[in-house]
Amino acid sequence: MSDVLVTENIQGVSMNRLIQEHDVEFDAYLWQNTDLLKQKIQNTKALIVRNQTKVDRELIDAAPELKIIARAGAGLDNVDTEYAHEKGIVVCFTPDANSLSVAELTIGLMLALMRKIPEARQDTLTGGWNRLKFTGTELYGKSFGLIGLGRIGSLTATRAKAFGMNILAADPFLKADAPQLKKLNATLLSLDDLLAESDVVSCHSPLTPDTRKMLTYQHFRKMKPDAFFINTSRGEVVDERGLTQALLEHKLAGAALDVRETEPPKQSPLNQMENVILTPHIAAFTVEAQDRVVDSVCEDVRLVLSGKKAINVFEP
Ligand code: MLT
Repeated sequence: MSDVLVTENIQGVSMNRLIQEHDVEFDAYLWQNTDLLKQKIQNTKALIVRNQTKVDRELIDAAPELKIIARAGAGLDNVDTEYAHEKGIVVCFTPDANSLSVAELTIGLMLALMRKIPEARQDTLTGGWNRLKFTGTELYGKSFGLIGLGRIGSLTATRAKAFGMNILAADPFLKADAPQLKKLNATLLSLDDLLAESDVVSCHSPLTPDTRKMLTYQHFRKMKPDAFFINTSRGEVVDERGLTQALLEHKLAGAALDVRETEPPKQSPLNQMENVILTPHIAAFTVEAQDRVVDSVCEDVRLVLSGKKAINVFEP
């Protein structure tokens, strides 16, 4: 039983330092074994997780000594933040540490979809030289619709603007005079209008009770038949069956999904679709972002264990 419990693969210089300074148990796969996790957490003062450990009421109740839950990432959908707050446990996260990396991956996926890069690579590796088959479309002049224009959405839009794209946004938290709309020369639309008007739609919504399965078949069927959909936010925001059906019926031209309804995902018809790019939730996985994330959670744990106030505290 250790002071600090790390239940997922969270590595780096700061983690090594924390391990030297404190009594840390590091088990990258502990999130998979809830019973063992509940046993091990009994005397834990600090819990460090990514997005796979379900930090629910039951787990929090099994940890009477817990002072801090440190989430190495931005999304807090796997942590019962309200209950932790009620119990006086500090919840920390890394809201900005990986935004840039997520924005960059989104642009990468957009280029890959529009220029058919993965299909062209695959075809070339198997002996093909089909130049016409892999004719793509330019980003320039196309409408880029962002569902969610928060930190990541705005960084993504800024980069898309450099390609000469027109920015559209649907965000229930924004008013028409919001500064980021002005800065990006972006048009605020309803979700339905954004889906109907965009050439590429990219989702940047947090997962909340309101956004769970927010995008269904009925939404995807409103897209242009030559438009693309990208999701680097949370898989559960999309009804994956609805998206699959819409793709099978050619209601949209293709999709790139870095996040899935279930992670790791089960077998899916999406795996067989040439116009679908699937990646294993890697948007935040760059050397730079991970250094920032690990530095941040380790520092907050160190502060709380020494009786000081953490820096990146989430207030529900
Ligand atoms: C995040 O929420 O920061 C990213 O999706 C990465 C993660 O969940 O670990």
